[in-house]
Amino acid sequence: MMAPPLKLGIAGLGTVGAELVRLLRANRDQLGGRCGRLIHIAGVCARDRGRGRGVDLSGYAWFDDPVTLATERKVDVFVELIGGEEGAARASVEAALGAGTHVVTANKALLATHGAALAAMAEQSGVALNYEAAVAAAIPVVKVLREGLAGNRMTRVSGILNGTCNYILTVMEREQREFDDVLAEAQALGYAEADPEFDIGGHDTAHKLAILTSLAFATRPALGDVYIEGITKVTLHDIRAVDQLGYRIKLLGVAQDTGNGIEQRVHPTLVSKSSPIADVGGAFNAIVIEADAAGSLMLEGQGAGAAPTVSAVISDIVDIACGGKRAVFGTQASDLATYQRARMRAHEGGYYIGLKAHDRPGAVAGIAKAMADQSISLESIIQRADPDEAGDVAPDGESRSMPVALVTHETNEAAIRTALETIRADGHIAEPPHMIRIEQI
Ligand code: HSE
Repeated sequence: MMAPPLKLGIAGLGTVGAELVRLLRANRDQLGGRCGRLIHIAGVCARDRGRGRGVDLSGYAWFDDPVTLATERKVDVFVELIGGEEGAARASVEAALGAGTHVVTANKALLATHGAALAAMAEQSGVALNYEAAVAAAIPVVKVLREGLAGNRMTRVSGILNGTCNYILTVMEREQREFDDVLAEAQALGYAEADPEFDIGGHDTAHKLAILTSLAFATRPALGDVYIEGITKVTLHDIRAVDQLGYRIKLLGVAQDTGNGIEQRVHPTLVSKSSPIADVGGAFNAIVIEADAAGSLMLEGQGAGAAPTVSAVISDIVDIACGGKRAVFGTQASDLATYQRARMRAHEGGYYIGLKAHDRPGAVAGIAKAMADQSISLESIIQRADPDEAGDVAPDGESRSMPVALVTHETNEAAIRTALETIRADGHIAEPPHMIRIEQI
């Protein structure tokens, strides 16, 4: 005989909420078989009852207030799809956890900002707080880190965590188009968040990275400590230059144990064209996890969109229906350590430097000397990196500037910043240099 059904309260009926209702209905029997019990919707909640959602909600109890739904006795699992780190989302999740009700959420901002406190509440109440959809939607990376790799010590987690940015960079390269032009297209296709700055400024990636860092390194989420650079300064010229040097540019979020603190950084990154992550194109996401026993593994899939998000939400519901309950960040909340930040100036790695050097004797030699003075060794240097760019002539006709692209061997960020400051002060360049970090993945 089947166990009693698991009863859900669903708050937030946007595209994701409506798709969840549709899929729970469409896959009812299959899910029943997987859980050994049926999954029922006990109540739904949204701000505007009259709005058309393309799904019949007439059979479900309607709630205007998510907190009331979250504390409704008949609800076993409160599914929060409202979004935002404060307001109704936070209030209703806290109410559910306080009432001893399991929570499933897709809310990255809530977890990245208040994750430690919510984890403590969930564990104190003895309920699950599941959030697979909050990071990279359909890719089950939370489960991989929390369960599949529970026996490992992680050394680095890095990934393409924002579909909008990956789409823009991919199209810029494939179609040789400039940033602004492709951003407008990504917005028209509905990939970008309502405020595209959240995507292209790297903030969406930072939220997801803060959650991954906690899962990988057993630290309390520290969103405010993520170093963030977005993709707005990446030019078609950079993309062409690095292509000649054997690289592709991706916006990566990287969390790395340096042995002297943990780096959390989001920035445009050169990855070798021969690495698997370089081939992850369009709006796809991918995450590479490096662990002591498991070695390196890469997960790739759809990181945005209603159906991929719902895929993750349902997997969280199924876990609860099957009786599964894990420490929220894979480690008991009381055992999560305070995040120890590794300083960016101490970051070690290779660098690409794009410059516009004055085309006059000694300019390139001066640039090379500034690098050598910081013990920075150059792996490659190309002048006139872009065949379409023969260099610019100043209005007075006297000084031309010429594109120069450098790739360094491994060095550290303090040395690079000092060398670039010297190059700028020496007057060898016509524009501020453009530095992009290289990641060996
Ligand atoms: N705007 C996000 C992206 C999707 O482009 O990946 C949700 O996190």
